[in-house]
Amino acid sequence: MTAFLRLEEITKTYPSGTRALDGISLDVQRGEFVVLIGLSGSGKSTLLRCINKLVEPSGGRVILDGIDVTAAKGAELRRIRRRIGMIFQQFNLVRRMSVFSNVIAGRLGYRSIWRTVAGRPTRTDVALAFENLGRVGIADRAFQRADALSGGQQQRVGIARALMQEPDLMLADEPVASLDPATSHSVMKYLEEINKKDRITVICSLHFLSLARRYGSRVIALKAGKVAFDGLPAEIDERRFKEIYGEDAVEVEIGPTSESERGAASPRQASPPALSASPERSAEIEQER
Ligand SMILES: Nc1ncnc2c1ncn2[C@@H]1O[C@H](COP(=O)(O)OP(=O)(O)OP(=O)(O)O)[C@@H](O)[C@H]1O
Ligand SMILES: [Mg+2]
Repeated sequence: MTAFLRLEEITKTYPSGTRALDGISLDVQRGEFVVLIGLSGSGKSTLLRCINKLVEPSGGRVILDGIDVTAAKGAELRRIRRRIGMIFQQFNLVRRMSVFSNVIAGRLGYRSIWRTVAGRPTRTDVALAFENLGRVGIADRAFQRADALSGGQQQRVGIARALMQEPDLMLADEPVASLDPATSHSVMKYLEEINKKDRITVICSLHFLSLARRYGSRVIALKAGKVAFDGLPAEIDERRFKEIYGEDAVEVEIGPTSESERGAASPRQASPPALSASPERSAEIEQER
């Protein structure tokens, strides 16, 4: 069976000389919920961004549903990107715009630039926007400014916006890293729902191993740009945990969680401090807005 998503020997060396990805090969089947874990700087964001070509790999190929993403340009690349939703740690909403406008913006790319600039969404788009807002439980907030919402609600707007593309692959780069544990679960449950009900394949990076165990059907750990583990969440025992996070790492409780949580834990405290965004990285993030 050919994989829904195939990564072949992906490498990425940034202009600074940092080798962020060092030969990543893996297949993802339709319907999987893949959680990416690994220390800060291990290459999770770079890998996610190589999949939709927000970052251009230095070598290797990304094949989505038989189409070579790495070779795609122009209209073909836009067509592929429409199939790939993306949600971000910082939500990347236009803060001053309404929730509704943010969600409608997810439809960009389906419509001509002219119609988008002219600004009248079609009735179908409006209906779809409300449907997606309803799915994440915030239809009643549609006409509030995005920045009037709590973090968890803003991330749900992020999910609704990504759903507007009717994607068949959802990439999520630490979608709950800015949220408290209870809110994290409420957001992760929506990702779980779109994975199970809509059969949208999800690839999601997470810092908390407990969340990876709870939501992932498969866990892939990166270490210095290479795959250090690829398997079932339950297979990550003490030894593997130390292989991934280092000898000194310990799993720690992260506070209040839902009853479904088994042994809530985080490698974060044992990790080096998160890397601060370099100017280039910030510029790159700006571009996506
Ligand atoms: N735009 C960039 N320019 C130069 N180096 C970069 C850039 N983006 C990432 N890097 C470097 O590439 C490596 C992998 O970074 P990446 O952001 O992919 O890791 P990560 O696993 O997502 O980390 P975190 O958990 O902190 O988000 C790091 O050494 C990082 O400093
Ligand atoms: Mg990252």
